[in-house]
Amino acid sequence: MIAHIACALLYCLPALSRTAPTSAPPGTPRDPLPIAVPAADPNNASVAAEEDSGERRRLPQAIIIGVKKGGTRALLEFLRLHPDVRAAGAEPHFFDRNYQRGYRWYRSLMPPSLEGQLTMEKTPSYYVTRETPARIQAMADGNTKLLVVVRDPVTRAVSDYTQTLSKRPAMPAFEALAFRNMSTGVVDTGWNALRIGLYAEHLQRWLQHFSRQQLLFISGERLVTDPAAEVTRAQHFLGLRPLISDENFYFNTTKGFPCLKKGEGQGRPHCLGKSKGRQHPDIRPEALLRLREYFRPFNHRFYEMVGHDFGWD
Ligand code: A3P
Repeated sequence: MIAHIACALLYCLPALSRTAPTSAPPGTPRDPLPIAVPAADPNNASVAAEEDSGERRRLPQAIIIGVKKGGTRALLEFLRLHPDVRAAGAEPHFFDRNYQRGYRWYRSLMPPSLEGQLTMEKTPSYYVTRETPARIQAMADGNTKLLVVVRDPVTRAVSDYTQTLSKRPAMPAFEALAFRNMSTGVVDTGWNALRIGLYAEHLQRWLQHFSRQQLLFISGERLVTDPAAEVTRAQHFLGLRPLISDENFYFNTTKGFPCLKKGEGQGRPHCLGKSKGRQHPDIRPEALLRLREYFRPFNHRFYEMVGHDFGWD
């Protein structure tokens, strides 16, 4: 019973045992090269410096795999405050777009780390790309820890649309893209902004390659209202010391989001950039209502699969 309640509190997924990342996970591909030599480093100076300091680039042991517009940048920026976390800044898109470049290329994108530090990256499109579960499983015999930030799929779709609109202002209205026929309420289920929100369907694919204990679902909503609580769950799941807490955050009223009192490697407050926390356009209430109806059964299936009700309905 107690285990059951604990499991529910942890959304049933995080590993209950804490695995300290003191060594490379078993099954990390045996690369013939002891260290990745970055192709872009003409004189290998940085490699020599890495070796001198005992640091080297490693393949990630944990990946934020999704979802796009869920709050993935916020989670990574918060986690990288931790002294035992080293994270790639940009999204590598290795498992979906750059797989043919090989592990050596992938590793060269990772920051140097010391033994015992955890290397991470985030690429939100992994969660919805058909090939990625098998590929990530192949990297470390399925021992990679996976984090997914999920957010109400309707708000997520609006956020996704808002991002595209900022690049293509002449784009049709949200309602015109979300519905095949607005007056009859027929949803365009093929629209990518909606398809990404079918979390249960995507999860089904991941569960063919990973056990549920290897996936942690972070609430995108709670990451805004109580960032420390969600980061605490992530630290626990990753086997990290619980060093990031409420003390690290403040609410920036101008931005309307939590920000860091001190950014990574900085002594001053740090909020995410302008592309995070955009103003959404007004969407017709009946369109939002119809989309909520559409997602409800999928959301419920997802809640059952992960053992937690995210409260989107
Ligand atoms: P909006 O811009 O629609 O508000 P991602 O990093 O996965 O692209 O997600 C972007 C979303 O992260 C933003 O969507 C925003 O709501 C959310 N977010 C969560 N915490 C945030 C924070 N502290 N600062 C800014 N945005 C945050």
